[in-house]
Amino acid sequence: MSVQSEIRRLTAPDILARKGGEPIVCLTSYHAHTARILDNHCDLILVGDSLGMVMHGLETTVPVTLEMMMLQGHAVMRGSKRALVVIDMPFGSYEASKEQAFMNAARVLKETGCGAVKLEGGARTAETIRFLCERGVPVMAHVGLTPQAINVLGSFRAQGREEADWGRIENDALAVAQAGAFSLVIEAVAEPLARKLTAAVAIPTIGIGASVACDGQILVLEDMLGLSPRVPKFVKRYTDLGPSIDQAVAEYAAEVRARTFPTAAHVYPMRAKKP
Ligand code: KIV
Repeated sequence: MSVQSEIRRLTAPDILARKGGEPIVCLTSYHAHTARILDNHCDLILVGDSLGMVMHGLETTVPVTLEMMMLQGHAVMRGSKRALVVIDMPFGSYEASKEQAFMNAARVLKETGCGAVKLEGGARTAETIRFLCERGVPVMAHVGLTPQAINVLGSFRAQGREEADWGRIENDALAVAQAGAFSLVIEAVAEPLARKLTAAVAIPTIGIGASVACDGQILVLEDMLGLSPRVPKFVKRYTDLGPSIDQAVAEYAAEVRARTFPTAAHVYPMRAKKP
């Protein structure tokens, strides 16, 4: 007898079917406990390779490994029940050949149980995306600013600032959509271009710093919670947890130093001796 969860998890086709419909709510998560909270509100949870910068304090996402992604992918799958979980393929795990991409993506799907992977790159990645999709791997694509290319780009600058670049970015978006991607992250592009891309492709666009002209939105959770020391200009901080954590830790440290920290004696009062 098969044991099925009572809550049906969203799938890549469910997200694809939302093109032009109700906006798609997405956030990143790397942990079981934040994933549990996000699962109440989000359609899609991305285990982004931004974890290299957010969790590990790296300067870029380039050093992130497949093992790092899978470890946090397991945690997010354990914490969530309903959202589609997408895991980023890190730099160096899919570019060498479409066969390399398939071997690594299949491992991610089989070992974590997630529903899809994300690959950065436009036209240059289209052949790989087609290869994966034809073999049962749902792919979320990612164009505009592609942070894994930082060493070629030179900085995390907004893309398509000159209208002359729009054709190339539109070509990227069309190429990955035609290759079979079920959705498309558009990062750091101005509203008119985001609007143009959203109208041009038949798959949902998910914006990050790409205006409201997209079918859905994504942010890095720690950025919107005020836990990241440096955030892109476009990020709205919905709360500021940094100072709250600082205050709580300061209070704890003061109690430990003053020996007023609640000890086991408070929690487990001694029983009176029997006469
Ligand atoms: O790695 C990541 O968190 C991402 C999002 C910024 C889209 O790719």
